[in-house]
Amino acid sequence: MNSLRIFAQIAQLFMLFFTPIVSHRAQAFTGTYGINYGRIADNIPSPDEVATLLRAAKIKNVRIYDADHSVLKAFSGTGLELVIGLPNGFLKDMSANEDHALTWVKENVQSFLPETHIVGIAVGNEVLGGGDLELWGALLGAVKNIHKAVNNLHLADVVQITTAHSQAVFDNSYPPSSCIFRDNVVQFIKPLLEFFSEIGSPFCLNAYPFIAYKGDPENIDINYALFQSTQGIYDPKTNLHYDNMLDAQIDAAYAALEDAGFKKMEVIITETGWASHGDDNESGATPINARTYNYNLRKRLAKKKGTPFRPKNVVKAYIFAIFNENLKTGPTSEKNYGLFKADGTISYDIGFHGLHSSSASSLRLSPKDIRARSWSQWHSLLLPVYAAALLLLLR
Ligand SMILES: *[C@@H]1O[C@H](CO)[C@@H](O)[C@H](O)[C@H]1NC(C)=O
Repeated sequence: MNSLRIFAQIAQLFMLFFTPIVSHRAQAFTGTYGINYGRIADNIPSPDEVATLLRAAKIKNVRIYDADHSVLKAFSGTGLELVIGLPNGFLKDMSANEDHALTWVKENVQSFLPETHIVGIAVGNEVLGGGDLELWGALLGAVKNIHKAVNNLHLADVVQITTAHSQAVFDNSYPPSSCIFRDNVVQFIKPLLEFFSEIGSPFCLNAYPFIAYKGDPENIDINYALFQSTQGIYDPKTNLHYDNMLDAQIDAAYAALEDAGFKKMEVIITETGWASHGDDNESGATPINARTYNYNLRKRLAKKKGTPFRPKNVVKAYIFAIFNENLKTGPTSEKNYGLFKADGTISYDIGFHGLHSSSASSLRLSPKDIRARSWSQWHSLLLPVYAAALLLLLR
């Protein structure tokens, strides 16, 4: 056999599987595992310490809910890939004033590039289906003006524009194949999806099996919600079987997208998690369940597999969240989604190590200490490929 030809074939395979899709479109997510860095707390570590923590855990994909400059500065030069948020409170202004959108992007994105890898802007969070109807109408205009600003500043190749939806945009999601967008949401979401499909952005979903479970603990098997061994559910229309609820929630979103005419759009999970503590009426909010969910979720994501309905679309998710957030309002669970406690120590062990002291410089981690399986795994997976290619070349 001609070793050069084999090498070319390996190189081709390599290009096919291991390089990001080369296009003019920005891709905000590398690998499959990311995390949300919520900051509604007065007792969490500084952004510099958080950057150290994330790098030690080899978590590369990070989302924040605003464009806080102390975070943008702390992430400079770290290689962390950051999606920033345009908070809901800005949507009306950004929708009405193109020049304000341009100024916002200049001040919060352009001025931090390229040292801080800002790879995306999430315009608004859980707007459609939410309580403020005026925002529903402002969302598309804000998305368009932010996109126009990014385009005018020649950043469209680098910065992807999205918005994250809650499951409140859906009607009936059981079985998954029957899911459709809610009647009153359709007229708002269709033009939005039209625009996102033009610019190549995915459908971003915040999906919480925990919330589904606590809403109906008598009838939902907690093992199904926690990725544990279970008989799962069967979808008679598609003939597909689901052994965990997150996959079913993702496929419900795919079904709704297909029904609305967007069969090709990718779904990514921008939030998912499980609370380790809650009110008495919040079933399932325990440290053991939170650990089980997050541990099994990591394993699920590390498989780099699609869902039953979309087997080729590898599931990608940002975990909610890094820290418990003591200033959050609402049910007690809201404050208790953190993989880490506010002081940086781990809430429960899923293979990440916490900050052992309040000073990042005293953090000691040897490579064998760090068992995180995430984007770095790609590189170890690639080593045999490099080695094989090299051997063939040298022969
Ligand atoms: C659950 O319990 C909390 C605290 O006791 C209470 O404030 C809340 O209204 C309850 N929620 C429901 C849905 O019953």
